[in-house]
Amino acid sequence: MLRPINQALVIFGASGDLTYRKLLPALFDLYSQSALPENFVILGVARSPMTRAAFCDKMKEGIEKFSNLAKKYESLIEPFLSRVDYLSIDTFDKAEYSKLRQKLVEIDHAFHTDGNYLFYLATPPSMYEIVAFNLQAVDLHREQTGRYFRRIIVEKPFGYDLASALDLNNKLHAVFSEQQIYRIDHYLGKETVQNILVFRFSNGLFEPIWNRNFIHHVEITAAETLGIGNRGRYYEQAGAIRDMLQNHLMHLLALVAMEPPVLFEAQALQNEMVKVLQALRPLDKESIESNIIRGQYTGARTNRGFLAAYREEKDVAPDSNTETFVAMKVFIDNWRWADVPFYIRTGKRLPSQLTEVIIHLKATPQSLFKGQCTGPSCNKIILRIQPEEGIGMQFGLKSPGSGYNVKQVQMDFKYSELANIYIPSAYERLLLDVMQGDPALFIRGDAVEATWKFIDPLLKYIQSNKDFKLYGYPSCTWGPEEANQLIPEGWSEYPAYCSIEEEPRFTILG
Ligand code: BG6
Repeated sequence: MLRPINQALVIFGASGDLTYRKLLPALFDLYSQSALPENFVILGVARSPMTRAAFCDKMKEGIEKFSNLAKKYESLIEPFLSRVDYLSIDTFDKAEYSKLRQKLVEIDHAFHTDGNYLFYLATPPSMYEIVAFNLQAVDLHREQTGRYFRRIIVEKPFGYDLASALDLNNKLHAVFSEQQIYRIDHYLGKETVQNILVFRFSNGLFEPIWNRNFIHHVEITAAETLGIGNRGRYYEQAGAIRDMLQNHLMHLLALVAMEPPVLFEAQALQNEMVKVLQALRPLDKESIESNIIRGQYTGARTNRGFLAAYREEKDVAPDSNTETFVAMKVFIDNWRWADVPFYIRTGKRLPSQLTEVIIHLKATPQSLFKGQCTGPSCNKIILRIQPEEGIGMQFGLKSPGSGYNVKQVQMDFKYSELANIYIPSAYERLLLDVMQGDPALFIRGDAVEATWKFIDPLLKYIQSNKDFKLYGYPSCTWGPEEANQLIPEGWSEYPAYCSIEEEPRFTILG
């Protein structure tokens, strides 16, 4: 593996959960595979006053709990932490950034990080523009091609609606060029999501049938068993539409539906993703009312104990109108996909934890055999994002014995069957890509704008039509029953890891 050039990574919001659970564990995993630059420093920056030792103790705990490789390479934790430092500044205050500048000069001297800086904004989104402008004030934003780089990494959410996303893009662009900005969607860091591209574009077998002539419909599901936990304050503002649909699911859809890029290179790949997002059929009153179902989980007694209603969760309004489930039918108006429905759904407190894309192929024009499947989804290609990462295919075969009876069988490939293959976490992959300056798996500004442009009419409609229904669904069920009517073919069935002990009662909440 080619190691990235020497650099320092500055994490704003270093006292937060993301740094503790995801970033430092992923950086440790990279370190233990010798994938970090030879000269590398991580500087945590936050407002909380803390000594370097206290910060390292906390990070050590996070690494021990959440890293993939900490057990195997325990002896490397201390040497890794020797590269970690902490600086407490008031990140709102422009004047304080000279301390950061000074600190980075010292780091360059002591560790030979060569003036290359990555700034990771693991902060609330309201801080993004403030940090960017304050970095500019001390000239930490400017890079010199061929001498040193400056890059900024931004976590989702990129805006709250179309107007705020445009505003955020404008503000970031006032300080950094698009090439310096890396917008993270951790879904694109997942090995299986990248595999969608390899599966589609490295096999002559699938691409010829990957279009409206052969595909009947496409189903994309991201189901979660957990509720919103302690994230009530954030989730009340986001809901499933902003939290999952506008980003992770739209990007998955783009990878499934895009045209082959002319080259496997960031610009070409991102161009194709944007084209698909721009071709989404715009939502209007009629399509919103007939093609979109919102739900919110209610309490239920289950085999896992009593699961409280969303409205009873911490920091959630007792009459909250926030959806924890959304299902929709969308169309992509281009030559490849004209009139092929894409059914998308995501929700919390569902019976299974899984993310899958299922391509349903049309039936044969004529039915010759007994038992032959004639429905709209006899042949399926199943792209299993998580868990049990892999690919499955379903087709009919002859049942052994006399006659010609057809039986549906499934062929499966599971990543876990590849012995001794280490699957890096999404953050490992994405952090390494930024260090190497490869933006292919990051979301370009125009893609962010295209997804918001698509979602914005829905958000506005919800806001201005208080009678747009929000259906209750008991925790541990597959969302409101109304979502089933969206898809005449029926959603695919999944194993349920949780079952309800009483007859579920569905209600309209608002
Ligand atoms: C995050 C959302 O972006 O993705 C969470 O904010 C969600 O609400 C999570 O649970 C799902 O990610 P993953 O990798 O667990 O599927």
